[in-house]
Amino acid sequence: MSFNERLFLLNDYPFERLRSLLKGITPPSGRSIMMSLGEPRHSPPSFLRDILDMNSDLWGRYPPINGTSGFRAAVTDWLIRRFHLPNGLLDPDRHVLPVAGTREALYLIAHLVVPRRKSGERTAVLIPNPFYQVYVGAAVMAGAEPIYVPASWHTDFLPDFDTLDPATILRRKVVAPHHPSLINRISLAFLCTPANPQGAVATLEYLKKAISMARRYNFVLAVDECYSEIYDSSPPAGALQACADLGGDLTNVIVFHSLSKRSSVPGLRSGFVAGDPDIIAAFSRLRAYGGAAVPLPVMAAATALWQDECHVKENRTLYRAKMNVAAEILGTQFGFRRPPATFFLWLRVGDGEAVARLLFQNAGIQVLPGAYLARPDSTGLNPGRHYIRIALVDNIEVITWALKRLRSLLTPC
Ligand SMILES: Cc1ncc(COP(=O)(O)O)c(C=O)c1O
Repeated sequence: MSFNERLFLLNDYPFERLRSLLKGITPPSGRSIMMSLGEPRHSPPSFLRDILDMNSDLWGRYPPINGTSGFRAAVTDWLIRRFHLPNGLLDPDRHVLPVAGTREALYLIAHLVVPRRKSGERTAVLIPNPFYQVYVGAAVMAGAEPIYVPASWHTDFLPDFDTLDPATILRRKVVAPHHPSLINRISLAFLCTPANPQGAVATLEYLKKAISMARRYNFVLAVDECYSEIYDSSPPAGALQACADLGGDLTNVIVFHSLSKRSSVPGLRSGFVAGDPDIIAAFSRLRAYGGAAVPLPVMAAATALWQDECHVKENRTLYRAKMNVAAEILGTQFGFRRPPATFFLWLRVGDGEAVARLLFQNAGIQVLPGAYLARPDSTGLNPGRHYIRIALVDNIEVITWALKRLRSLLTPC
């Protein structure tokens, strides 16, 4: 039997690596507190169950890959409301497509827009470093070279595309003597805002610049906005908003949104992509072959969730209270800065792996070493090595206890 050899270029998934790291350690009193996985645990609104029940006759139907017109309309209205988009910018039938969770869509986008070669060169994909692991899986499995763009403390935790070595993006190739032409080999760039794991948020200006760059070099800008609703005081800007500001053209831009974090329904597997109509049409074509269509009862529930903001506000309030607790307990220790969005803490603790082991061994607290979310940079050092990521998804009492325990274990007396 043979496998696709690209599969072996991927690291084990971070949670698999964490399992290996913690293997053989027994936490005190056998109690384990899971703060490694960003799995929301707030209750979704009660109408979710009612709508699923009311539509149960639809489990027997194959769902259309493009979803229902009601879903596309609800999502379009939400985008217009949320990002102050001008009426007419989005056509629900051309600019929006449901997906079975954004993980799948973020993976598929590379298979959609990464050609084998671009201008005669091996194609490359830009990935912020640290990053959500699916980006690298997508790039590698599509046959591209991943290029990691630093998103560290020095760049406010967002990828600074200006720091890219032009020789990396543009390989100089002599076509004819004295007629050098610049060969652009980037076909796709991932951007995560609000960023997982750091919680940084791109401004409208930043997004406009990134979009202009995508158009200048003709690559697709894939903007993962899954955490856009888990914000602290002000709603983060979005890439479609930046397109509107730039005149309304959606070319080269696609955004990814999910109900997993916004509505605390990671098990529903429901999200959408929106943007450039050519990319959306191609996405629909590819998903007809390899995508999981969203079941019709789920689509009905998702439609209602995108139409409702009350539960989203409540969800945000709960996360804000947890962030208040974190701010109170941590102060400025471990590089804590209250993130403008996200439910993760990205703490600078020294040796992230050693601290993950220590916390589990002494308190049963499971956190993710930052190194598992990043790749070594040009100096060979992993930019996540000093960090741990903590998901504030458990209830506030558990979080309070765990953060106090963490502080006492990690602060030298
Ligand atoms: C940054 C980011 N993007 C996308 C996803 C995928 O979310 P889902 O597939 O549940 O929509 C996650 C999940 O944790 C994430 O952290």
